[in-house]
Amino acid sequence: MNPSKQAKIFDKHARLYEKRRNKSTIDTKFRKKLLASASGNILEVSAGTGTNFPLYRNVTSLTAVDFSTEMVRYAKEAAKEVSFDCTVIQEDVEKVVFQENQFDTIVSTLSMCSYPHPDFVLEQMGQWCKPDG
Ligand SMILES: C[S@@+](CC[C@H](N)C(=O)[O-])C[C@H]1O[C@@H](n2cnc3c(N)ncnc32)[C@H](O)[C@@H]1O
Repeated sequence: MNPSKQAKIFDKHARLYEKRRNKSTIDTKFRKKLLASASGNILEVSAGTGTNFPLYRNVTSLTAVDFSTEMVRYAKEAAKEVSFDCTVIQEDVEKVVFQENQFDTIVSTLSMCSYPHPDFVLEQMGQWCKPDG
């Protein structure tokens, strides 16, 4: 499916994700456990409405990427509620450009299955993340 068509489908789900954002749901304990090991300059790919933002504990800065206009709109609101530096970018993860070794941690939750080329995204993540990240 072409990415802009796919992003529009996610636009339609954004309100539902937003409703769950500050609620404790079945996946909250798994998110907390995963994010406890995230630190430093963090990249979150396909961040949705920012469900993970309040769960980070050891952040220097967070860069969040998502290609859905509606998800990004909510994520920008979520970014205002956290105490760390948080930038939300609207971009396709398969096209976005970051520098090599730019991030200490790269986070992806519930997103890998959406990519037409997940192997390419994993390769990119390997480039963007510091070797000890
Ligand atoms: C199932 S939701 C998960 C959202 C969030 N990661 C979470 O854990 O709640 C998948 C998200 O991936 C985003 N997404 C899917 N493919 C993408 C791509 N190629 N580039 C950027 N965002 C993408 C969608 O817009 C949506 O917000």
